[in-house]
Amino acid sequence: MKKLSLAFCCCFVSFLSFSQTTKSTLAIIPEPVKTITKPGQFILPKNITIQASLSKEMTPVTDYLRKKLSGATGAFVTVKSKFATPATIKLLLNTKADTVLDKEGYLLWVGAKGIVIRANEPAGLFYGVQTLMQLFPKEIESAEVHHIKWTAPCVDITDYPRFAWRGLMFDVSRHFFTKEEVKQYIDQMVRYKFNLLHMHLTDDEGWRIEIKSLPRLTTVGAYNVKKVGEFGNFSAPTPDEPRTYGGFYTQDDIRELVQYGKDHFLNILPEVDVPGHSLAAVVAYPELSATPGADKYQVRSGEHMMDFGAGGIKALVDNTLNPASEKTYEFLDKVMTEVAQLFPFGYIHLGGDECAKSFWEQSAEVKALMQKENLKTMEEVQSYFEKRLEKIVESKGKKFMGWDEIIEGGLGPKAAVMSWRGIQGGITASKLGHEVVMSPTTFAYLDYMQSDRVMEPHVYATLRLNKSYEFEPVPDSADSKLILGGQANLWTEQVFNFRQVEYMTWPRGFAIAESVWSPKAKKDWNTFYPKVEKHFARFNEAEVKYAPSVYDPDFKPKMTADNKLTVEFTNEIPDLDIYYSFDNSYPDRFYPKYTSAIEVPKDATQLRVITYRGKEPVGRMITMPVAELKRRLGKGGQQ
Ligand code: ACM
Repeated sequence: MKKLSLAFCCCFVSFLSFSQTTKSTLAIIPEPVKTITKPGQFILPKNITIQASLSKEMTPVTDYLRKKLSGATGAFVTVKSKFATPATIKLLLNTKADTVLDKEGYLLWVGAKGIVIRANEPAGLFYGVQTLMQLFPKEIESAEVHHIKWTAPCVDITDYPRFAWRGLMFDVSRHFFTKEEVKQYIDQMVRYKFNLLHMHLTDDEGWRIEIKSLPRLTTVGAYNVKKVGEFGNFSAPTPDEPRTYGGFYTQDDIRELVQYGKDHFLNILPEVDVPGHSLAAVVAYPELSATPGADKYQVRSGEHMMDFGAGGIKALVDNTLNPASEKTYEFLDKVMTEVAQLFPFGYIHLGGDECAKSFWEQSAEVKALMQKENLKTMEEVQSYFEKRLEKIVESKGKKFMGWDEIIEGGLGPKAAVMSWRGIQGGITASKLGHEVVMSPTTFAYLDYMQSDRVMEPHVYATLRLNKSYEFEPVPDSADSKLILGGQANLWTEQVFNFRQVEYMTWPRGFAIAESVWSPKAKKDWNTFYPKVEKHFARFNEAEVKYAPSVYDPDFKPKMTADNKLTVEFTNEIPDLDIYYSFDNSYPDRFYPKYTSAIEVPKDATQLRVITYRGKEPVGRMITMPVAELKRRLGKGGQQ
């Protein structure tokens, strides 16, 4: 009897440990549609054979897999035609399309003896490969060879995306990022099954794409004065400061990036932001402005330029194109001719956001246009501009897209809308029968701070990972058929280098990836954040930077009825302990542990805080000045 129960216990324990290991080893982001874990594991041999069709369309998949597998494992990888046996990994294209999988879905079987990925299209196989990589140990992401046992758990996965539009926007205008950095960004994106890179190519701080018929856009418009500190509050540039900071992509660079995207199953959406945000273009060609004296303007270097007050947007210099001048439309026709030829993607984004109208209000030309065209408001003036632009874009064989401001004076007949000021613009546009991409500030703005402002480069708003994870691209009241998908936007005013690009994108990019790929019912914060931590470990191997801000607690200062300043903390991740000090020393886990609101001692000047999981410090050391806590009291405890 004793023996029997011991045997039963052993069985039970081993069953438990098996289910725990499988549970803990799988950390796939974005979460697949259906995953069945099976007993056993696959061990990668030293000589790997990939069996695949040797057709041209398969080369990007086989090249990618070969490089990925041989890099960190040091294995010898050969790609052989579909008759090669035995094969370690088979990449099979369906001869009869599986309608469930559509264009980007895949089936992945990992068995003890081999791996098979099946899909209708090479894109599906590519995403199957991405999932497979996440089943191997984290060292697979390393640039060095690791002599470890390369195992993957046995699984059956069925997976396909929820949306066809899964994007990130990268602002390469506020700060310029090189072609190689853009490629690195693409590399990181596709690992999480993003398929669209939206490049914000023009703005007040720089025009970043060569237009051969308008050379001054890049000889003049691509450069400003290098400044560091807090963008937006920089001192005005002086004549002795060199205007050599910035850069642009030649048309060959653009073709190379488009091809690189294609080889990674990713489209590039170009954005030319007009009629606002156009100072670089106006500086290059001042005749595009409705304001006399525009020939004295300079490309912005981060000095104060716009007021976003309650009374609307006011620009301190006229950074808009003249909607009343034919020169503007001739200019845009030239730009669109070249942009349309360079980017094969079906849409061109023409901005339309935050167009300050204060200078238009002063312009006799604009007033005459209003009279002639019977336009009653400045929004209708912008709408007139957008509708003409839509025709130009369509004449080049492309679809027109703009930020949600283009709804205000009346949408053009086929304009697609990118909803950023919340989701309402997207709801309205979809109800009017227009295509929509959701990218609301509330969930998808990667330029926002990720935790407390004492820890982050200062931006006017905060977007924590758990809030990003709530991103739902299809609001109940929208016409879901017209929601193409969603994307997150990385504006780079406060992003001065590529390491910071990575920091701002990850891990919120994981949250967005799951929102646009995974079934809604599969999203769950409690299963998501442990996966995020596993992917941090992968990023450590890949030496990609990410924000550890998810470990920073939120501080809530309060004044009690008897006039005592207290602080409460909340954590995004539940299983962490917070230790703190008021004596200016650096706390560790032998310091007081936070359990409930703490009182700030009368003479304390700073509160220091660190988070631990068990014995491991996981969070950053945070120093919060008591004066800052007091300042927040006046703002209802807000940052
Ligand atoms: C935007 O964030 N101005 C589109």
